[in-house]
Amino acid sequence: MKPISLSFASLAALLSGVSGLARFSERSTSNPNCFPFGSQAKLNANLQPPHVSREEWWCPQSDFYGFLGFSFPFQFTNMDFEVASISSHMQQMKRQFGATMIRMYIPESYTTQLWENVLEAAILNNMGVVVQVAFPISGNDASISRRHSSPQLSWEKVLETTLFETLAHSKYSKIAPYVIYAAEYLNEPVGDCDMCAAGSNGNASEPASLTNLTMGMSNFRKEMHKYGIPAGISEDWDRPYLMSGAPGSDGLGVGLGTVGKALEPVLDFIHAHVMAYYHNIQIDDAWTYTANQVLWYKKYLPQFPLIISEMMWATGYNVLHAGGYITGFAIAEVSEADYTKFWKTVDANCAFLKEHNTAYFIHAWRQQGTLNMLQNDGSVVIPNWKPKKWC
Ligand SMILES: *[C@@H]1O[C@H](CO)[C@@H](O)[C@H](O)[C@H]1NC(C)=O
Ligand SMILES: *[C@@H]1O[C@H](CO)[C@@H](O)[C@H](O)[C@H]1NC(C)=O
Repeated sequence: MKPISLSFASLAALLSGVSGLARFSERSTSNPNCFPFGSQAKLNANLQPPHVSREEWWCPQSDFYGFLGFSFPFQFTNMDFEVASISSHMQQMKRQFGATMIRMYIPESYTTQLWENVLEAAILNNMGVVVQVAFPISGNDASISRRHSSPQLSWEKVLETTLFETLAHSKYSKIAPYVIYAAEYLNEPVGDCDMCAAGSNGNASEPASLTNLTMGMSNFRKEMHKYGIPAGISEDWDRPYLMSGAPGSDGLGVGLGTVGKALEPVLDFIHAHVMAYYHNIQIDDAWTYTANQVLWYKKYLPQFPLIISEMMWATGYNVLHAGGYITGFAIAEVSEADYTKFWKTVDANCAFLKEHNTAYFIHAWRQQGTLNMLQNDGSVVIPNWKPKKWC
């Protein structure tokens, strides 16, 4: 009897799976009760957590594709993070682009206040948040941490500690796991060799450096798991011999490199930096590169949810981000027209992103020179445009 009933059961499952799939592909919006896409899923301003588990609260992973929102830097400043300011940026992101989430980028805050203010603003505006703890882009300057109250700690440690403190003891601690979708550890630590041991010559795969990085990632993830929040590293895996393996005939690394292999067991999530721009790809080839990167992640790291948390183009020359003539990197052509073409091409490929269950943030909202969507006069580079969330 058993094999027969089993085969009936699996036939039924197959049939319902097929019709479920047909309905799924016709669907244009999420279940109204799941966050952050459902119209009925509302964070409570009185800070009471929803009456469902965290798993039931968040929309299913299959809903996470297409445009989520912006990478929102809190860099260079410890001033511009009042709740009212964060909130007004969020309102503009929602109103003009239909954003549902933000990704915090290099939050240079060394108290719990920034975390609390972002949570408050996100709750008021009903948006999800990807948090990040990262070194300042200029590295781990011990002389600066000495000026702060915790002389023993590096910047990354101070950031981590203030985030953990907010999650454990602030008035937001109960609701925070319903606001924070995922957590990123560091920002391109391999490319910048942020966790490299002294004397490593910038080689992130040297054993002591590798230990620093994987231990740091693993400890951070353990802490995030106390709140049910998945964690990952914020990196570009198109780094042959490090994140990816030795390049194959198509130029992409085959399999995982030394650092990628060491990190894989301590990740829940891929926060990918897919950056045609920094790989000196011309605008007309940028989507092909991007799509091939998505396929690379799906081939070699298929078990993880994939969000492209950093992807960019520039509107103009900028010594940091388009210094080709001077610095020899990021030599792609840059203009408002190229910027617009890049993002509209990504948007036009919503069906591909859906097929590969890949969501993305636009990097960046502000503070990144000519990568910014928001201009100094308050206008945006691409007006009257709502990139597709559903397709
Ligand atoms: C990495 O580990 C070495 C010891 O192997 C230590 O001296 C160094 O400070 C560590 N670096 C970081 C960034 O944690
Ligand atoms: C980096 O370190 C690894 C492990 O020690 C070594 O195999 C590799 O050759 C080094 N890479 C460079 C470019 O020195």
